[in-house]
Amino acid sequence: MSKQFDVIVIGGGPGGYIAAIRAAQLGFNVACIDEWKNDKGGPAPGGTCTNVGCIPSKALLQSSEHFEHANKHFAEHGITATGVKMDVAKMIARKDTVVKQNNDGILYLFKKNKVSFFHGRGSFVKAAEGGYEIKVAGAAEESLTGKQIIIATGSNARALPGTPFDEELVLSNDGALRVGAVPKKLGLIGSGVIGLEMGSVWRRLGAEVTILEGLPTFLGAVDEQIAKEAKKAFDKQGLKIELGVKVGEIKTGKKGVSIAYTNAKGEAQSLDVDKLIVSIGRVPNTIGLNTEAVGLALDERGAIVVDADCKTNLPGVWAVGDVVRGPMLAHKAEEEGVAVAERIAGQHGHVNFNTVPWVIYTSPEIAWVGRTEQQLKADGVKYKAGSFPFLANGRARALGDTTGMVKMLADAETDEILGVHIVGPQASELIAEAVVAMEFKASSEDIARICHAHPSLSEATKEAALAVDKRTLNF
Ligand code: FAD
Ligand code: NAI
Repeated sequence: MSKQFDVIVIGGGPGGYIAAIRAAQLGFNVACIDEWKNDKGGPAPGGTCTNVGCIPSKALLQSSEHFEHANKHFAEHGITATGVKMDVAKMIARKDTVVKQNNDGILYLFKKNKVSFFHGRGSFVKAAEGGYEIKVAGAAEESLTGKQIIIATGSNARALPGTPFDEELVLSNDGALRVGAVPKKLGLIGSGVIGLEMGSVWRRLGAEVTILEGLPTFLGAVDEQIAKEAKKAFDKQGLKIELGVKVGEIKTGKKGVSIAYTNAKGEAQSLDVDKLIVSIGRVPNTIGLNTEAVGLALDERGAIVVDADCKTNLPGVWAVGDVVRGPMLAHKAEEEGVAVAERIAGQHGHVNFNTVPWVIYTSPEIAWVGRTEQQLKADGVKYKAGSFPFLANGRARALGDTTGMVKMLADAETDEILGVHIVGPQASELIAEAVVAMEFKASSEDIARICHAHPSLSEATKEAALAVDKRTLNF
């Protein structure tokens, strides 16, 4: 006998668990199925983000940043710290605790919101009477039926053809977050978000880090001026990034990993490292869903095809997050989850792709929302630009962190803000003001006339807005 629900959510990552909670808040009887297991085989909801993504990576970034501060920056504050050591096992254990707190938090939220949680793999099965059931294969077999189904099965790391992840020498994001000792030499393929964040963690802890990037441009999606500034900072830190390479054969052995590649000049090179992280993007995950049985349409990348409302080709079946088109970001997945739950309830859930912020949690942090200068040029939009360096910001000087700038782009005629790009301290927090401003269709003049606390990093945003009209006060 199958259990009946109004809404079944398959996947308990940020897209799925948030959709389940929102649907429950709206009065639906909701089930959420997630297969992730913790070390003891128990449930670990939260998906990639909680288990092997956003949360653990930020925990390691924090630990490694403390280490770097103690080693390199305490002295300028008059603090003597001798014999500073990193206990990698303890750092990893702390990260695991942070992950578990998040897993437990989600299980608590399910209880609080009366979401029925099923631990196991959900797959579509054709029902005898037409339609479909969702079979859950876990510790116990269950059969569920739902009036509406939301698929939020996320994504997996893309492997290099012919080089599968062994998570010992060739690591995906999963293995990269569980390395037990600082490798002497660490290689990474791909200088995207994971490459830079993970490369930063292990460089700060003492690894010699080389990142091989296929494209000739560094961070091509980022505003050029911001990407250049970031690259300068990474070069200074000793993060070696080789652009325009073509990766060839990869050999693993007792001595580690050997990567043959040609550099940007076409010269044959090789890189020998103790461990290699492959961070060349992610692929949508529909493994085990049994999509063929019910004719769920996938695109050529394997992503579930959805319309602007996240509806799939099957009636009553929706899909959100990394498994569909759009940026693979936790907050994008969450927004889609909320919007779908609200649409199911007959409301007008909405996700504005133009104001989804991006953040790279390196030091300096890189954050942006809206269009870059190069995109505006390509789109033929007339714009004004203003920027303000953190060097001229009192709070940044007091913090001892003056790298970078805030840059604002506004429409030449209407002054509406079209993009804000930040490289520097706390960019991840500063970008929120820009997102709010853009959601409310603010002009640069609006930001320029709003009182910002002194001394604060956010004054750099106000000054960048003033710079759009060529009237900065502090630079
Ligand atoms: P996921 O989080 O992948 O969750 C999918 C869940 O569904 C998983 O638990 C999976 O086990 C489960 N599942 C899959 N198939 C089935 C099935 N058939 N039955 C039952 N369960 C199933 N994004 C940010 O916004 N900020 C960051 O700082 C950030 N850092 C990241 C760092 C790393 C190293 C990585 C890899 C990613 C990071 N991301 C970050 C991206 C972010 O993790 C994803 O965008 C986000 O997790 C997508 O959410 P989702 O719900 O779509 O899928
Ligand atoms: P990515 O798409 O950010 O970067 C991949 C990089 O690898 C690109 O620069 C690409 O040109 C390069 N590349 C691809 N194939 C290559 C090859 N064969 N040889 C050399 N270089 C190659 O992907 P990444 O870093 O794996 O992260 C996946 C996704 O996870 C991100 O796009 C993002 O959506 C999400 N994420 C978000 C974070 C955040 O928000 N802070 C942190 C980490 C991941």
